[in-house]
Amino acid sequence: MLVRLFWGFLFLFYIGAQPAFCQQPADSPAPDGQDIYAQRCAECHGSRGQGVSATISMAGPPLLAVHDPATVLTAMEVGPSHMPRFAFVLSIDQMRAVAAYVTQQLAVMPMNQGSLPDGGKLYRLYCNPCHGPTVRGGVLAFTDVNPPSLANTSLPVVAGVVRTGLGPMPPFPPQVLSDKQIDSIVKYVQFMQHPPNAGGSPLGYFGPVAEGFIAWVALFVIIGVCTWIEKGGKG
Ligand code: HEC
Ligand code: HEC
Repeated sequence: MLVRLFWGFLFLFYIGAQPAFCQQPADSPAPDGQDIYAQRCAECHGSRGQGVSATISMAGPPLLAVHDPATVLTAMEVGPSHMPRFAFVLSIDQMRAVAAYVTQQLAVMPMNQGSLPDGGKLYRLYCNPCHGPTVRGGVLAFTDVNPPSLANTSLPVVAGVVRTGLGPMPPFPPQVLSDKQIDSIVKYVQFMQHPPNAGGSPLGYFGPVAEGFIAWVALFVIIGVCTWIEKGGKG
């Protein structure tokens, strides 16, 4: 069984690797990641990877903390959300060159020294008012600014967006938050994306207000039912 799986994977890998051989003639010069980035990516992610601060949905997030080439390759292959797919536009070698350029030249924010407790304090101070205590967003949902849930946002994007801002969200320059402090906030967001579960229903992690609200609704329903029973169940 395992052996068959192994050969199956090897075969798939072989098939998957084919375009690399087809698209690149042996004598073509090595692709220039910076050039391709300027032509294909800068309009949405900014010329220095700082992101584009615009309310249009096409605006790409900052790439300042994207250190993993696999993240860049995956984004180009898949085309998440409003980003176009580049799988049929760029060759494998060209995508590798862009991934190297992004992770080595544009990713200027180090991400490996944060502390969870500090992150919690900083988050409550700077982010809580808009994104809510459980990072599920929506605190200002009834105004024209609508802070999104961060429950599925990738961590490099969190770091980049905090540094440069995005649309109505203000930027937090180094004078306000150091790289290390942003890193701590990212750790906290990561923690809250997968909070330890103490049992019971998580109620979608909407936080104390919503949970209290659900309790009130339940109470009124119970009172209603009791009244109805008392009346003999005839309404
Ligand atoms: C039309 C605008 C647009 C273009 C052009 C574009 N992107 Fe994107 N990109 C986006 C958007 C929007 C997202 C956020 C998707 C989401 O919300 O998941 C994104 C996400 C990404 C991410 C994911 C970051 C993460 O950690 O999740 C990477 C990496 C990325 N883009 C790299 C690139 C590269 C490299 C190019 C050029 C080859 C490129 N993008 C071209 C709009 C664009
Ligand atoms: C004044 C309110 C406000 C504050 C304070 C604020 N944000 Fe935001 N944030 C927003 C709004 C509004 C957006 C949506 C921007 C857009 O999409 O145009 C946003 C977007 C984001 C995004 C992008 C989410 C995505 O998936 O595209 C991240 C990440 C983020 N905020 C993290 C943070 C963190 C971390 C903090 C604390 C350091 C913070 N924000 C502070 C209002 C705020």
